Amino acid sequence: MRILMVCLGNICRSPLAEGILQDKIDRLGLGWTVDSAGTGHWHVGDSPDRRSVAVARSHGIDISGQRGRQFQPRDFERFDHILVMDDQNHRDVLRLAQADEHRAKVRLILDYSRPEGRQVVPDPYYDDNGFEHVFQLLDEACEAFVRRHT
Ligand code: 4NP
Repeated sequence: MRILMVCLGNICRSPLAEGILQDKIDRLGLGWTVDSAGTGHWHVGDSPDRRSVAVARSHGIDISGQRGRQFQPRDFERFDHILVMDDQNHRDVLRLAQADEHRAKVRLILDYSRPEGRQVVPDPYYDDNGFEHVFQLLDEACEAFVRRHT
């Protein structure tokens, strides 16, 4: 199974989501592939935000080797599940979809852990204290995703 995590910049939330799910894949020996991308182009080639790197490290996960890339329409073919962080990501990704089969792959990541009401992962970019909360939301969601698919 191939999973793509998507946010706006691909430096704060989706790199954390990728690192957290990769850690669970490794621990459980699942053999799945996980990657991440941003809908925006500003951080192509950049390392994750140092605050995301730090919060991941505090939980024993190294995301420092990741580099930003932009979501591309061919990702609809390359991945089975495209998990977005918020409503804006959802709209931006769906706008690029040209087939129902592709649209069906896109879901809000918190739908797995908090199915009541469309809950979203807040953008922590302007909130230094938001990163641990984002980590916890994503850890819960990745745990629920793994449970659903194993
Ligand atoms: P992310 O956060 O979508 O979680 O990576 C952001 C990081 C940077 C920007 C926006 C969101 N930016 O506009 O540069």
